[in-house]
Amino acid sequence: MTATRVFSGVQPTGNLHLGNYLGAVRNFAALQDSHECIYCVVDMHAITVWQDPAALKQATLEVAAAYLAAGVDPENHIIFNQSQVPGHAELAWALNCVARIGWINRMTQFKDKAGKNREKASVGLYAYPVLQAADILLYKATHVPVGEDQKQHLELARDIAQKFNNDTGAQDFFPLPEILTPPEAARIMSLRDGSAKMSKSDPSDQSRINLTDDADTIAKKIRKARTDSDPLPENKDGLENRPEVKNLINIYSALAGDDAETIIARYAGQDNFSGFKTDLAEIAVSHFGPITAEMSRLMDDKVHIEAVLRDGGARARAIAEPVLRDVYDLIGFVR
Ligand code: TYM
Repeated sequence: MTATRVFSGVQPTGNLHLGNYLGAVRNFAALQDSHECIYCVVDMHAITVWQDPAALKQATLEVAAAYLAAGVDPENHIIFNQSQVPGHAELAWALNCVARIGWINRMTQFKDKAGKNREKASVGLYAYPVLQAADILLYKATHVPVGEDQKQHLELARDIAQKFNNDTGAQDFFPLPEILTPPEAARIMSLRDGSAKMSKSDPSDQSRINLTDDADTIAKKIRKARTDSDPLPENKDGLENRPEVKNLINIYSALAGDDAETIIARYAGQDNFSGFKTDLAEIAVSHFGPITAEMSRLMDDKVHIEAVLRDGGARARAIAEPVLRDVYDLIGFVR
């Protein structure tokens, strides 16, 4: 197998934010000119923690709307929700029997999400990274655009693929998928705390910019974003130990397309952040305004989004089914 295939997914839990967009979704659109792409709304991953059913449906449509608004073409590529393709759960079971408990015990995301009360976490939350490996391998995907927080899960997917290939003696059966992270936006941090990742689950809405925020809210959040009392740095070395400032410069760089040095030179030595923040807010609003407007236009026509997901689901099943049949043959299941 030499062709490349891109697969990625986003959980329909809560609002999509700037980190999801810059770390992943923007890249989804960028890759479609050069690759065959499959983008999934991973609703089966979402239920590893309790979801209100109506909210889950709404969030699933919203994530699909975000893919479309970001420019993913659902005709030449595939947009679907995971639960429409039974192969994800079926392959996950087979891979549960390949992955080792020791490997899963090292997953930091499980430790973070389960917290102190690990005994009360769902079995699904624990097995989550194996389902993620199944998502990717079910399509023999070669490249996976994600933020840096998914690196460990991607390495696990490679280990599982390698062990399956070795165990079954089918050396090149699953390609070892490669992670694609955007250079300046692989890890966008909270606007309130430069040591914490921007996250859907942060209790403070001020910590993130949501894709559904209006222009005033975006501007206000950037104005209030935490910085420090020193002037803006003179050069890149001046960003050391200033995680909040570094984060804002990274966001500026990712949105404006300028490199960090150029941005630093533009504001060097200014003794407060107000000019920088005003410009950043303007750039963010002009970037997100059209996306937000398109998302809300799409959300007024849910029937259309559902049709996109159904059509994508059928096309995803057509790719997945023969792969799963081959997996079952390699395992020795009678069909
Ligand atoms: P999820 O839903 O948490 O996040 C979706 C995507 O957004 C990226 N991301 C970030 N990037 C930069 N800075 C941030 N602060 C930030 N926060 C989130 C994530 O890295 C991700 O790319 N397990 C995955 C979903 C998944 C998946 C898959 C991804 C399930 N199966 C198969 C790829 C392939 C997750 O929870 O993403």
